[in-house]
Amino acid sequence: MTERYLAHHVTGLKPSGIRKFFDIVATMKDVISLGIGEPDFVTPAPIIQAGIRSMQDGETHYTSNAGLLELRQAIAEHIQKRYGVVYDPKGEVIVTVGVSEALYLVMTALLNQGEEVIIPTPCFVSYQAEVILAGGVAVEVPTYVEDEFQVRPEKLEAAITPRTKAILLGYPNNPTGAVYTRQVLQEIARIAEKHDLVVISDELYDQLVYGVEHVCFASLPGMRERTVLLGGFSKNYAMTGWRAGYALGPEGIIKGLVRIHQYTLMCAPTMSQKAALEALRSGDKYVEEMRQEYDRRRQLIVSGLNRLGLPTFAPGGAFYAFPNITATGMDDETFAQKLLEEERVAVVPGSAFGAGGEGYVRCSYATSYEKLEEALRRIENFMRRHG
Ligand SMILES: Cc1ncc(COP(=O)(O)O)c(C=O)c1O
Repeated sequence: MTERYLAHHVTGLKPSGIRKFFDIVATMKDVISLGIGEPDFVTPAPIIQAGIRSMQDGETHYTSNAGLLELRQAIAEHIQKRYGVVYDPKGEVIVTVGVSEALYLVMTALLNQGEEVIIPTPCFVSYQAEVILAGGVAVEVPTYVEDEFQVRPEKLEAAITPRTKAILLGYPNNPTGAVYTRQVLQEIARIAEKHDLVVISDELYDQLVYGVEHVCFASLPGMRERTVLLGGFSKNYAMTGWRAGYALGPEGIIKGLVRIHQYTLMCAPTMSQKAALEALRSGDKYVEEMRQEYDRRRQLIVSGLNRLGLPTFAPGGAFYAFPNITATGMDDETFAQKLLEEERVAVVPGSAFGAGGEGYVRCSYATSYEKLEEALRRIENFMRRHG
């Protein structure tokens, strides 16, 4: 009843397809979950220690709104070292409460009522919601396995209207695992320039790639000035619970993000910023260990699913496999529900990730090798009955 007090833009939001499903999973026993989009690893010890030390040292206060200058410097150095793009830590970097907050900030800062953001889908479930919450319109452009789940530049361009403000890209992609090639990114860059659009590039999984290069969108010629680069610590460093991320971009845009951030979040948690700083200083070797383990699991699950008659695109990054399940004759919601009920394996229906996800399910391989082997055995039983 009291729901009538809520604003229309909130009641109009669909509940996340992932949450709905996992509320059911939480009530069941002996489920192997391939549904969770976060590392199964605990944050590497030196990073945890840095967080503890910060608290023990009495660093229990706010930091500056944009984040500790030391951390902003380290983020700028990290990006320069990896991608050769130079940002000024004093005006072009903001530390956020994860990429989640950065998405909220960038949409709120950029969008006037009714302005459109083009989003290649399937994509991370928050993208459309963040656009809608900021008063904008999310325009989905589906991607296809034939194109390795990269948006077709001509389709992207065809979606542009006089109200289009930005393109929101996410790669390595959640849920497909797609990594954009330099060539496709260059074509997107050309379109952004031609139509004077901002590109918001969510590169949260940038260090989790397998035998392919991650090309930072801001590193493409001319793109630094129209790109807001989003990244963070959650996935690369197994730090989801710390809630630390960042946005980098031209000063004029970042200034807008800082203004909203200072009135809403104030700053990211101080101890998490200290932990993030340690991640940038000493975390690389742990990232590499985790990446190698994800790669081993990736090979197991992709070849396993293909063998069982569920055609699966070879993901170049992140930690998701995205098999096509249409051979079973079921839609993705029914497949996920039956697989859970009959074999106690949880996967996420592809349609939860927007247009183009229908007929697929997302299987996260951020779970142990042994559990993945058992999940494949259970899926094999399932496919014997339904394949
Ligand atoms: C592509 C993508 N972007 C952003 C996020 C949010 O991450 P954070 O923990 O940094 O808020 C996620 C989390 O699953 C994601 O997959």
